[in-house]
Amino acid sequence: MGRFRVPSLRNLAFTAPYFHDGSAASLTEVIEAYSNGGRKIEDGIYKGDGSKNPYKHAFISGFSISAADKINLINFLQSLSDTGFINNPAYQNPFSYDETKKK
Ligand code: HEM
Repeated sequence: MGRFRVPSLRNLAFTAPYFHDGSAASLTEVIEAYSNGGRKIEDGIYKGDGSKNPYKHAFISGFSISAADKINLINFLQSLSDTGFINNPAYQNPFSYDETKKK
């Protein structure tokens, strides 16, 4: 209950929304969730404050972060983009492959 595999952060800039349920629309929201010590969901069936989740590890207690550090952290996360990989035809969706353009 409440346990998730840590995902890769590679090419994160292209994969919003974030977390297993897409509940963070942006990297800013991801950092806010971590600094809060858990996600705060305002409404819907998952409404609640994740920082009070009894299943959460005690080490995940939240932190404060300056506006400048937040920008630096987002820039760092976005630097993990590999456009060569993203645009490599070998990894494109095979179902969108156009037979007529073969050769
Ligand atoms: C400020 C520090 C951190 C940053 C910037 C960060 C960043 C992120 C981001 C951007 C995601 C979403 C990835 C995606 O949806 O593709 C994520 C998910 C996740 N991170 Fe972190 N992370 C931090 C700290 C941690 C720590 C300390 C842990 C574990 C002890 C952790 C464990 C996880 C797990 C398990 C997920 C998947 C959660 C889910 O799918 O709902 N992260 N993290």
